[in-house]
Amino acid sequence: MEEALKASAALTEYRYTMNPGLSPLGEKWIPREPGSVASARRFVRDVATDWKATRDIPEIAELLASELVTNALAYGSSDVSPMSPVRVTVGRERELLTVDVHDACIAVPRLRRAGDLEISGRGLAIVQDLSHNWGWTLNPYGKSVWFQLTAWP
Ligand SMILES: Nc1ncnc2c1ncn2[C@@H]1O[C@H](COP(=O)(O)OP(=O)(O)O)[C@@H](O)[C@H]1O
Ligand SMILES: [Mg+2]
Repeated sequence: MEEALKASAALTEYRYTMNPGLSPLGEKWIPREPGSVASARRFVRDVATDWKATRDIPEIAELLASELVTNALAYGSSDVSPMSPVRVTVGRERELLTVDVHDACIAVPRLRRAGDLEISGRGLAIVQDLSHNWGWTLNPYGKSVWFQLTAWP
């Protein structure tokens, strides 16, 4: 437990040191289990709503965060610490709302363009189509997959 707390403090500090323009609005750690996706989704929508993100941005943020958190649970575990939690952060950089989903695995996402008959492979395509910007960033603790939405035009 103490180890987990130390790791989370180091990761949080690392993130804000690397992004000095980012104001933190909220942070949540979720356990690696399917039930976590619903609470992560609510969390992102609530933070965006509390900070008065414009129009339908809270719902779009919720949808895209849901895709990234599902991916983090499906693909983002590491051999070293298979049960390591996933961290969801919401922040603001000027007019942009940034949602960042961190997992402990260093494999990076691959954008797929699913064909009409495929039943999966659309999550990141939706993130790409609806966000202002998205990407991933490797760090000493794993990687973050993130997106930005224009929330305070
Ligand atoms: N957090 C992640 N860690 C490692 N690989 C990922 C992660 N997120 C996505 N990927 C890779 O990118 C692919 C595309 O993801 P996505 O578009 O959400 O489609 P789907 O999840 O249906 O396969 C995944 O199949 C997986 O290989
Ligand atoms: Mg997916």
